[in-house]
Amino acid sequence: MKQIPRHIAIIMDGNGRWARERGQPRAEGHRRGAETIENIVSACRDRNVRHLTLYAFSEENWRRPSEEVLALMQLLRHFLSSKRAELIEKKTAFRAIGDLERLPADVRQELWETCEATKGGDRMTLIVALSYGGRQEICRAVNSLAGRGVKEVTPEIIETALDTSGIPDPDLLIRTSGEYRLSNFLLWQLAYAELYFTETHWPDFTAEELDRAIESFSRRQRRFGLTDDQLK
Ligand code: IPE
Ligand code: IPE
Ligand code: MG
Repeated sequence: MKQIPRHIAIIMDGNGRWARERGQPRAEGHRRGAETIENIVSACRDRNVRHLTLYAFSEENWRRPSEEVLALMQLLRHFLSSKRAELIEKKTAFRAIGDLERLPADVRQELWETCEATKGGDRMTLIVALSYGGRQEICRAVNSLAGRGVKEVTPEIIETALDTSGIPDPDLLIRTSGEYRLSNFLLWQLAYAELYFTETHWPDFTAEELDRAIESFSRRQRRFGLTDDQLK
């Protein structure tokens, strides 16, 4: 029996390199990457993954050339407006995490409409990290607790103020394109995630490769600090 992670988080990397290898503009890599998103969202749903978090745009990515940032924002807006009906039909709740205030107003509007329209989705939650940084998220959480007069924090209290509150921590993290780092993604939430890295660029990532990642996850023993005898 294959064990299905309850929550998968993915750092979708390599769109630019995919495009460069084909002599195409980076924006084309992002466009193809968006097609992979559709494919992988439905593959996860078919496999009964309950939560899927995708790293789509980091706080640090704001420093990219403005035309690339613009292309990504356009793609995002298009994705949201064209996929909303399908998300509703497939009972997929949509959530966005990150410093959303920094996003253009029309993107924020699309995000809000998508979250509202898909609220009742009980089959899967699709969480998209936008303008997201893990350290910044922890700072925002602590500042909001301080603003509410909280004098001393515990992990449980911090969790209530994170963007991901109410969502279980990821069980499996996948990063594509041969980079072995977290790039400020879900620093708090990934504390005990199993990690899976692949050389494949995100536009070439397939459901078969997702299955290989899940397969690898099922073979691992998660000990959470205990000895293996304690787990028997
Ligand atoms: C990931 O692909 C998508 C975003 C960061 C928005 P990249 O654009 O980082 O692709 P590479 O790493 O340059 O190949
Ligand atoms: C991480 O990828 C962010 C996303 C996938 C959205 P980057 O390409 O920005 O990460 P670094 O710069 O290689 O660490
Ligand atoms: Mg990259």
